[in-house]
Amino acid sequence: MPKRGSWRTRFGFYLVAIGSACGLGNLWRFPYVVSENGGGAFVLLYLILALAVGMPLLVAELMIGKSTRKSILGITKQTSGQNQILFRWIARASVVLTFVVLSYYAVISGWVLHFAMQFFAGLVRNTTIDPNDFLRNLLGNGLLQVALASVHLILAWLVVIKGVHEGLEKWIGNMMPLFVFLLIWLVFKSISLDTFANSMRFLFYPDFSKLSYSSLISALGHVFFTLSVGFGTMITFGSYFKETDHIPLAGFRVTIADTVISLMAGLLVFPILLHQSQGRFADPTLLFEALPRLLTQSRIGNLFGLAFFICLYIAALGASIGLFEVIVSNIVDRKKDIKREKAAQWTGVGVLLVSTLPAFSSNFLRQFQINGRGILELIDVFLISWILPIVALGMSLGLSKVLDEKVMAAEFLAPNKVNSAALYGHWKIALRYVIPGVIILGFLLELLGLIL
Ligand code: ALA
Repeated sequence: MPKRGSWRTRFGFYLVAIGSACGLGNLWRFPYVVSENGGGAFVLLYLILALAVGMPLLVAELMIGKSTRKSILGITKQTSGQNQILFRWIARASVVLTFVVLSYYAVISGWVLHFAMQFFAGLVRNTTIDPNDFLRNLLGNGLLQVALASVHLILAWLVVIKGVHEGLEKWIGNMMPLFVFLLIWLVFKSISLDTFANSMRFLFYPDFSKLSYSSLISALGHVFFTLSVGFGTMITFGSYFKETDHIPLAGFRVTIADTVISLMAGLLVFPILLHQSQGRFADPTLLFEALPRLLTQSRIGNLFGLAFFICLYIAALGASIGLFEVIVSNIVDRKKDIKREKAAQWTGVGVLLVSTLPAFSSNFLRQFQINGRGILELIDVFLISWILPIVALGMSLGLSKVLDEKVMAAEFLAPNKVNSAALYGHWKIALRYVIPGVIILGFLLELLGLIL
């Protein structure tokens, strides 16, 4: 049996876990779900849920991964009785979900790559591009979107086949400092826009009347998506931990880092969106429309645009590598005779095939719409606001059953872990009651919204 990889350093784990949690969810999805749900009140809800629901589940996922040293499908082999049936279905659902999410994620990452290349070309040739053509040309061309998604998947595949040290830790670890540097620089640039004050008000002034019956479930879905919980990502990452690593602290740090990056992304993106879209920006393509329109108005626009899309692309690639790794690691854990390279190859091909659907949603399949939403947007809403919370609900119930009492106690109560000892009881309550309770409440409210 091939030896299981492990993180070379604890810092390496943080870079990969944060790099894979911070992705399109923070920079592309966060602004558009916040807009859809009216701004500040939704941001407040998101912050509370990230700490009270997302973080405890993240800790539980890391913990089961560390204690079993397996990915989620591998763990199903070790459970027994009633627990096994529930857990096996959750495990399958989470891997299928990861697979489909990666396929639409690859298409949007392809858009980001395209925009980065356009700005680069503009910079080199010192020309400006017609902002109206920017997105229209891309969305009208399904084959181009499939080609870009393939380039993106090949890059992720090249990293994943190299394994935990040489692949994930090295590549995501090297990309993260550049990502953070670009993000901070871009936030400073955005602050100088005259719309900054209004965007602060929009983001941080909670007007609860703007929340709808769907807001709770949307916020939950987004918390799970952005923290990469429910996909089994953190279970796989936990399985690469060493004995000495402290899970509750790791879960806390990853949650805080991801949340801070989401808020920074809000500070970066909203002043631009408000500048360009007169407040109408609850649409997944708007970031791609508004940004070029603003940037082609200024002389250094190409440089700013290039920096923005490189930053966004680094985030998208890191997250895609995380999702890709989860699928590959699950296949290898489940089918011992399949090599990592082969598993990665088939995963890439399968994901690319599925990605044709979102890639053609804005051209060949344009007629297919429900409530004005095209296929890509429907996949996003359906998977993230419906399926992901259901999987997370099953995951919290399943993990509270299969996690061994001794394992949990050892992580929280060891003598040198004084801080986490105080949190042990709260964490168990959160895992067993708060997470399932809040998710069920979210669905009930959604249902009420549909009926009323
Ligand atoms: N956590 C990843 C993101 O937010 C999937 O994009």
